[in-house]
Amino acid sequence: MKIGVFCPIGNNGWLLSENAPQYKPSFELNKKIVQRAEHYGFDFALSMIKLRGFGGKTEFWDHNLETFTLMAGLAAVTSKIKIYATAATLVMPPAIVARMASTIDSISNGRFGLNVVTGWQAPEYTQMGMWPGDEYFGKRYEYLSEYVQILRELWATGKSDFKGDHFQMDDCRVSPRPQAEMKIICAGQSDTGLEFSAQHADYNFVFGKGLNTPTAYAEINDRLKAKTDITGRDVQTYVLFMIIAAETDEEAMAKWQYYNDGADIEAINWLMNQGGKDTKSGADTNIRQMASSVSPVNINMGTLVGSYESIAKMLDEISEVKGTEGILLTFDDFVEGVESFGQRIQPLMKCREHVVVEGMSSEPVLEKIA
Ligand SMILES: Cc1cc2nc3c(=O)[nH]c(=O)nc-3n(C[C@H](O)[C@H](O)[C@H](O)COP(=O)(O)O)c2cc1C
Repeated sequence: MKIGVFCPIGNNGWLLSENAPQYKPSFELNKKIVQRAEHYGFDFALSMIKLRGFGGKTEFWDHNLETFTLMAGLAAVTSKIKIYATAATLVMPPAIVARMASTIDSISNGRFGLNVVTGWQAPEYTQMGMWPGDEYFGKRYEYLSEYVQILRELWATGKSDFKGDHFQMDDCRVSPRPQAEMKIICAGQSDTGLEFSAQHADYNFVFGKGLNTPTAYAEINDRLKAKTDITGRDVQTYVLFMIIAAETDEEAMAKWQYYNDGADIEAINWLMNQGGKDTKSGADTNIRQMASSVSPVNINMGTLVGSYESIAKMLDEISEVKGTEGILLTFDDFVEGVESFGQRIQPLMKCREHVVVEGMSSEPVLEKIA
């Protein structure tokens, strides 16, 4: 089972709460997190792109770094962990993204890959006059299909003459080409999103579901499998969960309750309002899940709350879900979270038994981290 960290590129990570740790994103913070993640054998680090936040008392995501430049910096200060940035495809031409990816491939020595997103929140794009109108919601993945075909062509051959409805390339060139195969992530969950992944992506990322229900998302793997049966490609799921861990289940649950008690209602209302705008993408989109009222304090991403032992057990359960190849993690406090994952949780996980961490015995470490 692969493990990744979802870099806190925006303020306060993924908790819309006045009671959660309050911090701004910085290169130093992300460097610390990703270097420690690399130390503990994490397989990859991914950062999203967010161009406008949700406001509220916590100014949620009003402060966000840019993903390619952040990940280029992180590529330069790591040596093993895979690095993924996210292309905001509506505002970044594919020929530029292909070249930026080649550049980070060079910085990282072949450790770079790309998450491609269609965009779902119009104000991120209307603010710069680049939202194509709400009919785009229904065409998002047609647009992305053309986009990715151009990327693949440029990386494979250094040249594209692709002609489509959205892009016309004319002897377009990119060189140097990446030294390693460039992997593409999509995080589709709607039917068209999954069809796109089955056709074009290497991995499909999805939100976990619920509180301490680690396998509740499994049906999406079946939906993706039905689509890959048609395309004949092998595309595995990576699932996103937030970990809230402590010495005991009770202590961890008390923390989770405290974060919920401080929920930033104004920011959550913004999210719910934006999440409802896309009426074209069907009921199964992650956006609907993000905006649902069940657990909006962490955008309903699927949450594992408990003692280190309980979390390890739930992560092992996820690894048993057919079609899942990896887990993407967020934490309430990323610095402490990565440490306690590496020191206390991972050593108890059967699906991570193969991971050797320098300076740590292969026996579970039970004493509390300093
Ligand atoms: C792990 C993960 C990362 C994502 N990163 C971004 C992002 O950086 N920017 C963005 O606009 N949307 C992002 N999304 C949203 C997805 O791209 C996608 O639009 C969403 O999951 C809804 O699925 P659908 O497009 O099939 O409706 C992300 C979703 C997940 C699960």
